[in-house]
Amino acid sequence: DLPRFVKVVEVGPRDGLQNEKNIVPTSVKIELIHKLVASGLSVVEATSFVSPKWVPQLADAKDVLEGVQYAPDVRLPVLTPNLRGFEAAVAAGAKEVAVFASASESFSKSNINCTIEESLVRYRDVTSAAKKHGVRVRGYVSCVVGCPVEGAVHPSKVAYVAKELYDMGCAEISLGDTIGVGTPGRVVPMLEAVMSVVPVDKLAVHFHDTYGQALANILVSLQMGVSIVDSSVSGLGGCPYAKGATGNVATEDVVYMLHGLGIETNINLGKLMDAGDYICKHLNRTSGSKTATALCKL
Ligand code: HMG
Ligand code: MG
Repeated sequence: DLPRFVKVVEVGPRDGLQNEKNIVPTSVKIELIHKLVASGLSVVEATSFVSPKWVPQLADAKDVLEGVQYAPDVRLPVLTPNLRGFEAAVAAGAKEVAVFASASESFSKSNINCTIEESLVRYRDVTSAAKKHGVRVRGYVSCVVGCPVEGAVHPSKVAYVAKELYDMGCAEISLGDTIGVGTPGRVVPMLEAVMSVVPVDKLAVHFHDTYGQALANILVSLQMGVSIVDSSVSGLGGCPYAKGATGNVATEDVVYMLHGLGIETNINLGKLMDAGDYICKHLNRTSGSKTATALCKL
């Protein structure tokens, strides 16, 4: 049975823009988030409080977050790799943060410069500080089917990290196919392993579309009971520490599929396309969304 409602978590302003060569002006980021919220999205990942040496594209995190304060029903999580990032995020008004661990040791090293276990120690510091501040924490697991260095990642490794994040207090666990190599053949056993240790209503899926498998992977995830899907407007993005990986699945394509399945999202596809059009014009590129491309020609 498919879920009746799916919560779409828009990650374009963070996962998309973190990978842009040219730094996008703060005012454009703020306007993009504004347009995404106007389309009905209830969760928009706004930016990251990470080292500006590692991700210079998001060095304006404080200004972006301070520029986008909305009604309390709009959630704007931000990535925080450590306590320092958490404190800066809360000072800038964050009500929700996300920590990001990896199921692959090599990717953990290249993305956050520490081992998986070291990252979990840092994230325990973040989740316990978050409890004191009443801040919600989302936990990512990256490389849930494959790693750019190690190749295939075993489902048990994903389940281990997902359970650790859940046990330390993450309210939601997002499972990321960071490099987009997964097919339903690999995604199903991975989800089975994770669902045996974390309740399915706490799970989100986060697919990158490198091999064109993202919608198929989302559909099997929905069939297995997942009802939270991450995506990026116009398919923006990639990952600076995962060479060759393309952007997330395009939000427009996800919404088109969900509505076609009769699943509610509260998202207005036309307004979402306006947001995509706005950022694509700014970046001087065509949309990575097939739905947006097709509907524009009508
Ligand atoms: P490090 O170099 O090992 O740590 O970085 P450090 O403690 O030695 O810090 C280095 C410098 O950064 C120092 O500055 C710190 O003060 C500063 P310096 O003394 O050299 O001037 N620093 C900070 N600055 C701002 N905010 C902070 C912060 N922390 C330290 N929070 C660190 C370790 C984790 C900081 C670094 O590796 C980092 O920032 N990594 C983030 C990389 C990143 O954002 N990657 C992309 C996101 S993950 C992803 O895309 C996957 C996901 O989308 C899911 C999926 O697709 O599957 C989530
Ligand atoms: Mg990602």
